[in-house]
Amino acid sequence: MNKTILVTGGAGFIGSNFVRYMLEKYPDYRIVNVDALTYAGNPANLKQIEGDARYAFEKADIRDRARIAEIFSRYQPDMVVNFAAESHVDRSIDDPEVFLTTNIIGTQVLLDTAKQHWKLHPEDKYSREFKQGVKFQQVSTDEVYGALGKEGVFKETTPLSPNSPYSAAKASADMIVRAYHETFGMPVNITRCSNNYGPYQFPEKLIPLMINNCLHDKPLPVYGDGMQIRDWLHVYDHCAAIDTVLHHGVNGEIYNIGGNNEKANIEIVKLILETLKKPESLITYVKDRPGHDRRYAIDNTKITTQLGWSPRYTFEDGMKETIQWYLDNQTWTEDVVSGAYMAYYDKMYKDR
Ligand code: NAD
Ligand code: DAU
Repeated sequence: MNKTILVTGGAGFIGSNFVRYMLEKYPDYRIVNVDALTYAGNPANLKQIEGDARYAFEKADIRDRARIAEIFSRYQPDMVVNFAAESHVDRSIDDPEVFLTTNIIGTQVLLDTAKQHWKLHPEDKYSREFKQGVKFQQVSTDEVYGALGKEGVFKETTPLSPNSPYSAAKASADMIVRAYHETFGMPVNITRCSNNYGPYQFPEKLIPLMINNCLHDKPLPVYGDGMQIRDWLHVYDHCAAIDTVLHHGVNGEIYNIGGNNEKANIEIVKLILETLKKPESLITYVKDRPGHDRRYAIDNTKITTQLGWSPRYTFEDGMKETIQWYLDNQTWTEDVVSGAYMAYYDKMYKDR
């Protein structure tokens, strides 16, 4: 069946993997990628599909109402998958405002425009009827739940308690998506995923940053004691989970996505060092991230039992493949690690 999916943030890490995944899996779908190409958006991530007639790219900011309305009118999308966001916690500590405008207002602009296009009677504020088959899917994060101690896991019913400006903005976006469902009857899903790793991740995030530093024999900056725990999932497994929810998610429901794969940061750093045959003397403990969440862990029972999704990658295979990808694609990293990245790196790590 033909469908047009509007993907926002499709030039970023997860979005670009998702665009490729969808074009490969659904020969009849058209994918429209709306991305502002911030520092994190990279057209090179989508080089292989540039000539694909089923793919269209629109450079646009999701906060720009007029541009978003124009894009909806031109492509008439059936579904929206909203990845576009400022996504890095450390940047949100230094400069929170853009996290609020993009992650919250940008989401609301998309919701409003979709509502206008998808409602059967857009002028009737009491009508809750939407066209058949439309859906707004919000790509959210486990960070909205806050931090865990040694025990426990995040369930979909865990109260939201975000700790960073990034996660507070993502939690706000979740609330506004929920409100459009409750108030207007808009068909929505929210997915909350744990930490992703895999190809095309910007080297400001833990795994690609450590791989890149290792390759250049640079110190590996471990925050605090390195015993913070994240629940890691390969990006392809996240893409498959989003696809599952997009097609089979129950209207209005939230789904946690995670791989039952908790690792302390220091374990990951040591695994990278071992794989690349570099000495542990590169490890450098630096000042901790302010408000650093100690542990995340996802209970994925709902999506696995109700929708039949489960992760395919083991962490060992996924990491081997990912490290190999960064070895094979060093020019990609070199292009990304441009002057602007070096300025960011100095600002973030110089006096730490
Ligand atoms: P990323 O930073 O790699 O990519 C974000 C993309 O959004 C970039 O292409 C950027 O150009 C685009 N963008 C930013 N502001 C925009 C704007 N105003 N208008 C249009 N486009 C804009 O992020 P990512 O790691 O791929 O994360 C994608 C989404 O998944 C985010 O919403 C994030 O909160 C969520 N998420 C990420 C992870 C993770 O581990 N990376 C885990 C769970 C959820
Ligand atoms: O949990 C999902 C979230 O995972 C997503 O919503 C975010 O978009 C994504 O950035 C990620 O957030 P984290 O803060 O967990 O990811 P990051 O890669 O920045 O850090 C992972 C852990 O590693 C965290 O405990 C901080 C630590 N760290 C990170 C960097 C960049 C270091 O010790 N040193 C570093 O240099």
